[in-house]
Amino acid sequence: FLPDYPCKVERDRAYIINALLVGLSRLEYRGYDSAGLAVDGDKTGETFLFKQVGKVAALREKIGQEKVDNERVFVSHGGMAHTRWATHGVPSVRNCHPHRSDPNSEFTVVHNGIITNYKELRTILEKFGYEFESDTDTEAVAKLAKYIFDTQKKQSGNSLSFTGLVKAVAKELDGAFALIFKSSHFPGEMVVARRGSPLLIGVKTEKKLKVDFVDVAEEQAQEDLLLPDQPKIRRTQSRSFFGDGDAPLPIEYIIASDASAIIEHTKKVLYLEDDDVAHIADGDLHIHRLRRDDHMSSVRPIQTLEQELAQIQKGQFSHFMLKEIFEQPESVVNTMRGRINFDDYTVTLGGLRSHIANIRRSRRIIFVACGTSYHSCVATRALFAELTELPIALELASAFLDERVPVFRDDVCVFVSQSGETKDTLLALQYCKDRGALCLGVTNTVGSTISRETHCGVHINAGPEISVASTKAYTSQYIALTMIALTLSDDNLQKVARRREIIDGLFDLSANIRKALATEPHVKKLATEKLGKAQNLILLGRGYQAATCLEGALKIKEVSYIHAEGIQAGELKHGPLALIDEKMPMMLFMPKDRHYSDSENALKQVTARLGAPIVVCAEDDDTSLFKNLETIRVPQTVDVLQAIVNIVPVQILSYHLSVSRGFDPDSPRNLAKSVTTA
Ligand code: F6R
Repeated sequence: FLPDYPCKVERDRAYIINALLVGLSRLEYRGYDSAGLAVDGDKTGETFLFKQVGKVAALREKIGQEKVDNERVFVSHGGMAHTRWATHGVPSVRNCHPHRSDPNSEFTVVHNGIITNYKELRTILEKFGYEFESDTDTEAVAKLAKYIFDTQKKQSGNSLSFTGLVKAVAKELDGAFALIFKSSHFPGEMVVARRGSPLLIGVKTEKKLKVDFVDVAEEQAQEDLLLPDQPKIRRTQSRSFFGDGDAPLPIEYIIASDASAIIEHTKKVLYLEDDDVAHIADGDLHIHRLRRDDHMSSVRPIQTLEQELAQIQKGQFSHFMLKEIFEQPESVVNTMRGRINFDDYTVTLGGLRSHIANIRRSRRIIFVACGTSYHSCVATRALFAELTELPIALELASAFLDERVPVFRDDVCVFVSQSGETKDTLLALQYCKDRGALCLGVTNTVGSTISRETHCGVHINAGPEISVASTKAYTSQYIALTMIALTLSDDNLQKVARRREIIDGLFDLSANIRKALATEPHVKKLATEKLGKAQNLILLGRGYQAATCLEGALKIKEVSYIHAEGIQAGELKHGPLALIDEKMPMMLFMPKDRHYSDSENALKQVTARLGAPIVVCAEDDDTSLFKNLETIRVPQTVDVLQAIVNIVPVQILSYHLSVSRGFDPDSPRNLAKSVTTA
């Protein structure tokens, strides 16, 4: 969004459209079933809307085919765009954002999140004669804006300010939202609001920033507006953080749900808080509060992103998934950097320092997460139990509230999330906070809601993960959790030798991952030849490898659409053995650890039924048991960390199973990177 200055349509609309399309493509990994865009028209406040089903490239192509009248002059420069992952309504052009209040697009809206009372709003608005053109919850927001705006004008003769209007609308909404509004009544202005969904504002300017924060308007609590009453909104003004009025040096504001869309424009960002309403007009940014909240800081600091553009580009790799798999020798080092001193075997986690004593004194530690993040908790559970000697519980965030898990003040709850924005995990976090538990976050996203809402935590520093299928975040989460367990046990003399063994293993980890990556040509061959036609895959393992089986099966399912199942090898005889015959594709993880002889039993059980698993084993394991079997040989490390090395060939396998079947592993069907709906 740029402030007023006259320019030619062709040049500046092309600039805005291109910036929006590039920004959208950076966000595409979060949802990609349709995409849409709205840009300012001419002086009359006209809005141009473009929508297309499919990926952002399809939208770009569609816009390229439109004829643009390049003689018309712009006076304002704003646009909004959205890439959708369908929640309400199938992927289609009519369900695609932006949504409008009416055919003239008096109000245009894009939205992330879910409006839970949209049916009620829709029913009321339909009674007032509004005709809906989509099945989405978002359209009700655009139409509600028009309804409130028109009603206020009719009843009082005065129009609401744009900010006042958005506040009135936001107060009527239940659920979660990050919303952006444009309006032909307020050309050149834009208002955004958030509750429960992330929203950040990048500030790009040559101007010297006068202050490094934005003051939030001190506003009195306003009466709640209930439909169909007349809105009573008082306009108040917050301070601008530029405010010296010496434009016309352009300022661009880039508003997005994720830093990846901002990074190529600026590294200066501010994060909006729940119930913030931000207004951009005449090159100024003003932030207001929806309602008074004495606990909320009135300052939004401008922070500097540490992300680099190269981190969100594919480089020489054909897919982000492959790039991220191959980044792991570096990403695991980044997770440990500055935290582990390998000379004196100390681990220092700054984000936990003042809470360590409380965590050690706690009644138990509960891990809460979804999907791959949950598997990192499964993988490190035994280590936590061993080193901390505390009871450890694991909970899937998506089932946590269903089960109303009892949580107490002396519990410590650990929320693990790559994105830091997963709705299920956030809801569980709120539940645990309400019960007084100490809440700890482990995320990959600085500034994410989970990292801000938890009492303390650890960033995994794996760098941006773009591929929907999580790979490097898993190994970094695993290491971050290992480091927490090491920190919690550094006062226990009986654990000194074990801690040293693990820290030595962490020292060697990067090199061991590199060796595991060297299996790629062999693993690719297995994916294309041995498993070329597989419709099922069973992954067997025990001890630390049980997590490898679960995580490996999830990777295979999500990118290759093969039905895969991770099974504790000890459970085979309790049922799954019935599935085994010479046709059932299988993998068995059999490192040289204390479970080796039990795994040997499992191997004999399946080979006796003519099963022929691919065995993931130690480089130097020369047992005759593997004589007629395919093996994937990886370096042997300390038992606790072996699952990190062992997951690498399975990540590679899932990638090649996907590509060899003609799928795009970066965009698996029906999935989105960050699941911001419950
Ligand atoms: C699988 C995957 C998902 C996520 C899950 C939680 O590859 O990526 O299973 O792990 O949706 O997401 P975060 O970690 O962002 O909370």
